[in-house]
Amino acid sequence: RRLKNLLIITVVGVGSFYSYRAYRSYKWSKEVSESDSTTGTKPRIVVLGTGWGAVPLLKHIDTQKYEVVCVSPRNYFLMTPLLPSVSVGTVETRTVIESIRSLVGPKIKYVEAHCVDVDTKTKVITCNSDGTNTVSRGDDVKTLLEPSKRAGGASSRIIKDSARTRPQFDMKYDILVVAVGSENNTFNIPGVEEHAHFLKELLDARRIRSAISDAFESAMTPSQTAEERKRLLHFVIVGGGPTGVEFAAELADFVREDLQYYFPRLVANDVKITLIEALDHVLSMMDKQISDYTEKHFRRENIDVLMNTFVKSIKQREVVVQFKGSNELTSIPCSVVVWATGIKARPITNRIREIIGLKAQSNRMGILTDRYLRAKGVTDGSIYAIGDCATIEQPKLVDQIQTLFEEADTQRRGALDLQQFKALVERKIHDFPQLEIFSKTIEKTFEEADKEKSGFLTLATLHSALEKADKKIRALPATAQVAAQEGRYIADLLNQVTDLKSSDYQQQNLQSFRYKHMGALAYVGGDSAVLDFSGTKPIFDLFNLQPLSGRSAAYLWKSFYFTEMFTGRTKTLLAFDWVRTRLYGRDISRY
Ligand code: FAD
Ligand code: NAI
Repeated sequence: RRLKNLLIITVVGVGSFYSYRAYRSYKWSKEVSESDSTTGTKPRIVVLGTGWGAVPLLKHIDTQKYEVVCVSPRNYFLMTPLLPSVSVGTVETRTVIESIRSLVGPKIKYVEAHCVDVDTKTKVITCNSDGTNTVSRGDDVKTLLEPSKRAGGASSRIIKDSARTRPQFDMKYDILVVAVGSENNTFNIPGVEEHAHFLKELLDARRIRSAISDAFESAMTPSQTAEERKRLLHFVIVGGGPTGVEFAAELADFVREDLQYYFPRLVANDVKITLIEALDHVLSMMDKQISDYTEKHFRRENIDVLMNTFVKSIKQREVVVQFKGSNELTSIPCSVVVWATGIKARPITNRIREIIGLKAQSNRMGILTDRYLRAKGVTDGSIYAIGDCATIEQPKLVDQIQTLFEEADTQRRGALDLQQFKALVERKIHDFPQLEIFSKTIEKTFEEADKEKSGFLTLATLHSALEKADKKIRALPATAQVAAQEGRYIADLLNQVTDLKSSDYQQQNLQSFRYKHMGALAYVGGDSAVLDFSGTKPIFDLFNLQPLSGRSAAYLWKSFYFTEMFTGRTKTLLAFDWVRTRLYGRDISRY
């Protein structure tokens, strides 16, 4: 009888499995034939990119209403927050990517290519699909093991792109959504392109992993001098923003948890990790408490933090720095250098700005948009820009606050009670999107403006303090959080638009974009993370949440990114990777 039950369960299980597969393939082929039969009859949306901005848009856009084409040189979505983990092998490469075709389904056409030009008059983009491997240096085909040559290791190997025969092509659009992200900013500092690693794409992470392994193996060569060993095992990270901090943290974990076991002498005597930051704090965009915690925590983790130190150049075997207040240049011998000093606009972003006209597109950070995320200066409203490549035009903070000030100063005295004014800003904050995310900065500005601690605020003092603050806070942060909300917003907006020809969205009762900040998270190593809730009003303010650090933040960090993984496949792989690393450590082979 038991055997019979088992047989029934097996038959039902296998049957359901095959029925599901058959249903999926039927649904897939039906969608393909439906989308083929309607090609050319619906307005065409072309989306550039397969990153954090593009994917939520592609997933939620109404394909009954639009023909949607996605053009990107990367045929997968990349979970960038886990890149530092990939660069040391905590998580494997296939875990952090998901094929764009499986993410968006057959109703959306995907073409693997770079967009290289846009004609806004004829509404045509020009694309180049020659050598589309994405790396963050702007070069197409680079040597994967190139850094190993520097560390004195094995010879390099060229990866050839098999798709070099694909021709250039043009494509018409009715609506173009630019979501091409950003590239690394080197500030034209000599030697960075040639000698440093970036951490922006998957290939970057693989190169770093290989270079770390190479440095250790090179240091083990019997004829190596003590001085050269120390140089080979000195890892330098430039930039104390979240990328630099998270990579330093992962590297310290790797050294303590795995390399110490395989190379005990080297780790005890020669390994050194240095993080170099030009400002006087790491994670300077987060709450001060968090910067302080991270700096102390890094000292415990044996990461040297050089603050107020500016990298002037990078040579093959050293980093040249200048300390604040000194004119002298100091050389720091090292092997692997990871460059994480922020981002800048890609060439295609600048090209689009130029085509639209630099008068309307004056912001160098990216394509300037209105609050519906439509590029400024495009009269028919056919170009949208989202994510790292876009900047929303904001009314100046100083103007917004002045309006409030005038409203509160009913007697026109030009001075206000500071506490009452603060309370007013607090109440009004939701009407002014910029005030919401920069509430901490505004609070600081008030304190600075009221230097004499009189408890009163004059319009003149407030004005000059706000002008200073305005310079710092014109744009939304370049994060996945912003890009994803913008992508989702555009899908909802375009799904609702009734008249594509009319650019008056207010008349069509369409809401402009409102960013909801959910807090900032960063992993700082040793099973600790930091979590900053500032600017998250009104969601978390109800609980009056304070910055969080340590193990509890690390659990939140892990749970958050686990739930953020787009599919069950990558969730499963991530869970397995974390368990594997805990049980067996990271793989240190170089391949
Ligand atoms: P991307 O996600 O970079 O996507 C750009 C897409 O455009 C890519 O598919 C690219 O191939 C494609 N593309 C490029 N050129 C062209 C072209 N010419 N034509 C067509 N397509 C093109 N943010 C957070 O909020 N939290 C985090 O924890 C976090 N961690 C990060 C860790 C690291 C190491 C890095 C590098 C970034 C991290 N970020 C994080 C920032 C976040 O990844 C970016 O803000 C986000 O990727 C921006 O999304 P995007 O869609 O604008 O660009
Ligand atoms: P960043 O711009 O946030 O930080 C770069 C740091 O490098 C700055 O602190 C700057 O002072 C320093 N710097 C610049 N030039 C220097 C020099 N020559 N010498 C020494 N230091 C120098 O850049 P980052 O970390 O690359 O991040 C890029 C974007 O991605 C940011 O918008 C960030 O918010 C986002 N991101 C978010 C993460 C998160 O939320 N956990 C993780 C990683 C990135």
